[in-house]
Amino acid sequence: MHEFTPEVEELAKEVLEYSLIRLRTDPPLDGPKTPEELFELAGNTITAKGLGGHEALKLFKDVLAKACISTDHPRYLAFIPSAPSEYANLFDLVVGASALYGGSWLEGAGAVFAENQALEWLIDIAGMPSTSGGVFVQGGTIGNLSALVTARNSLKAKHKDATRWVLAASAESHSSIKSTAQIMDVELLLIKPDKDGSLQGDACGMVIDKYHSENPGHQVFALVATAGTTNLGIIDNLKTI
Ligand SMILES: Cc1ncc(COP(=O)(O)O)c(C=O)c1O
Repeated sequence: MHEFTPEVEELAKEVLEYSLIRLRTDPPLDGPKTPEELFELAGNTITAKGLGGHEALKLFKDVLAKACISTDHPRYLAFIPSAPSEYANLFDLVVGASALYGGSWLEGAGAVFAENQALEWLIDIAGMPSTSGGVFVQGGTIGNLSALVTARNSLKAKHKDATRWVLAASAESHSSIKSTAQIMDVELLLIKPDKDGSLQGDACGMVIDKYHSENPGHQVFALVATAGTTNLGIIDNLKTI
């Protein structure tokens, strides 16, 4: 299974050929199909003997890839797309072939070093303090969850008598904030943005102070502001917030 046999060599050629054609040519837009339509086309893909690399690639090319919208298509305007450049897509292959584990310094010092440099670059662009740090995660939802868990954790010592944690956010904020509040089992305090849809610092201050005075024991641990909301691209007033 882990040997580079002539069959694997053959498959490598096919995989590289498919990938290079896909990267060189205009991306197809494609689109979803129903589970029934896909079953009709693909059948059972998990079999006792396995499909084999050639068949699996054929199934991917002819059926599965065609049921996924290509996020590098110029008409694809939604969600956060995949790696945005040919360079990134090619390097994904290099990283995959290198079988890295980047979860800790012991196993992946080289990868973590590179990650930290990319983080420092972002920290600099965002004008955050040089003591800032972070970690790349799979997407916005996990990023929000991880940042908000960190925020609550950092305030636990300061607010030992808090009986209920509260997350404040704009009513315009992304749906993942609501999911995060559910996962963390905290209250969600939604604050109305101004008439242009942007959250303002003074309004937040007033709503949070009022909430604290009316709900003893409840403690707001974070206020979520968005620099480009999903639907309208609105940037909250980050400075006053
Ligand atoms: C502001 C914001 N937060 C979170 C998300 C969720 O990101 P993901 O789909 O990568 O989890 C999005 C996605 O569009 C977003 O725009």
